Amino acid sequence: MIAANWKMHKTVAEARAFLEAFLPLVKNPQGVEIAIAPPFTALPAVGEMLRGTGIALGAQNVFYEPQGAYTGEISPPMLKELGCRYVIVGHSERRQHFHEDDETIRKKLKAVFEHGLVPILCVGETLEERRAGQTEAVLERQLRAAVEGLSAEFVGELVIAYEPVWAIGTGETASPEDAEAGARFLRSRIHKLYGESIAERVRVQYGGSVKPENARSLMTENVDGALVGGASLDPEKFAAIVKEAAAATSSA
Ligand code: PGA
Repeated sequence: MIAANWKMHKTVAEARAFLEAFLPLVKNPQGVEIAIAPPFTALPAVGEMLRGTGIALGAQNVFYEPQGAYTGEISPPMLKELGCRYVIVGHSERRQHFHEDDETIRKKLKAVFEHGLVPILCVGETLEERRAGQTEAVLERQLRAAVEGLSAEFVGELVIAYEPVWAIGTGETASPEDAEAGARFLRSRIHKLYGESIAERVRVQYGGSVKPENARSLMTENVDGALVGGASLDPEKFAAIVKEAAAATSSA
């Protein structure tokens, strides 16, 4: 599964222009699910253009209450109404700039599932944490806190994006070995908490400076796809990443 996280990029007009260029490039990608998460403002236009293409619509964030006095927030039913299937939850930029903590992320994950949407849960260590040898401890803490109290049925649907914070938007990609180690560890924790069949169902993505040149090598045994920021803004590059993932799937 290859997902685009556009972050705070693209007006409605720019989103339309992207899709006009992108859609003809990705007719029939074998064995790869594509999702696009534009800013909230472009969700209706993008959703409309994606209808009938098989490409899923995603949101980049959500609040956990269904409605209420929460100025500036967007609820799960509002996203559902627009045809969203996925919601990115706990992105490191949300944790860092908007002070989202593990407890908030847990509530968001639960609300997203309860409203029939699928979360893409982002976890990952900072450079400091990696240097201090805390990578696994950080991943374990973030994952455990996020899934606490969730039923196995929900967890089986979960998409987890392993995104080392030091590799996001820096041009510095994790090595395939690092991506695999992170993904394998996350899957092993799900195995421990929910058993083997759930651990096999969970999809784990790698995210952090994924580009056409490195995409194929990052699709390792436990990595089922990528969450792509910068390179997803360019229709040719994003289509090339989808093709690399399709090639990795067919040769696996
Ligand atoms: P990047 O972002 O591809 O620009 O590094 C990835 C992400 O933040 O999901």
